[in-house]
Amino acid sequence: MKPFYVMSIIVISSVTFAVANTSDKYTSDSHKFIKTYKSSAGEVTFHHTRHAESFLDDCGFCHSALRTFGGQVNELFGHKVCRVCHETHNGPLECNQCHDNQKKNK
Ligand code: HEC
Ligand code: HEC
Ligand code: HEC
Repeated sequence: MKPFYVMSIIVISSVTFAVANTSDKYTSDSHKFIKTYKSSAGEVTFHHTRHAESFLDDCGFCHSALRTFGGQVNELFGHKVCRVCHETHNGPLECNQCHDNQKKNK
């Protein structure tokens, strides 16, 4: 009996944790937006919907990094978080794939 009891506590608490991790203001549509950041190197358009839906079970990766960088997208976040993930996940790495990306994609 005892091992099973211990197991179910572990299962229950990890499920609760997973939900708490993604629940930060999460309603079904709240992740659906696109946002453009102005910068002297050319504005950066970030497709939050696509990113969130590609990393559905790991909202916390970006969101905890965001808190570390003061809660807003800035140059450090752009190059240390956005760009570094692109290096490891085959995302775009050229300056103009992020900067002025809307203009150049048209
Ligand atoms: C690739 C990084 C990344 C991933 C993955 C990600 N987010 Fe975000 N999210 C951001 C950034 C950056 C912002 C801040 C946008 C801003 O206000 O400048 C944000 C903002 C938000 C906001 C708006 C919060 C507010 O107060 O304005 C919501 C809601 C949100 N994300 C939900 C989610 C959910 C739910 C997931 C997972 C399904 C998720 N995000 C995954 C980067 C990400
Ligand atoms: C957790 C990893 C991760 C983070 C963090 C991340 N990206 Fe991406 N991004 C990707 C991947 C993977 C792709 C390629 C997706 C594809 O081509 O289907 C991508 C694609 C893109 C694209 C081109 C396609 C599109 O959807 O517009 C742009 C522009 C972009 N990212 C900008 C950003 C910016 C700006 C940030 C930070 C605010 C950011 N990304 C953060 C993983 C990430
Ligand atoms: C993965 C996306 C991404 C790539 C690739 C990228 N950047 Fe950025 N960059 C950003 C983001 C996001 C910001 C923050 C924009 C803001 O200030 O809101 C930024 C900010 C900057 C800033 C600061 C601008 C200011 O007004 O403070 C400079 C300069 C810059 N980038 C140059 C470059 C150069 C040069 C390259 C290529 C070597 C490059 N970036 C590649 C996303 C990217």
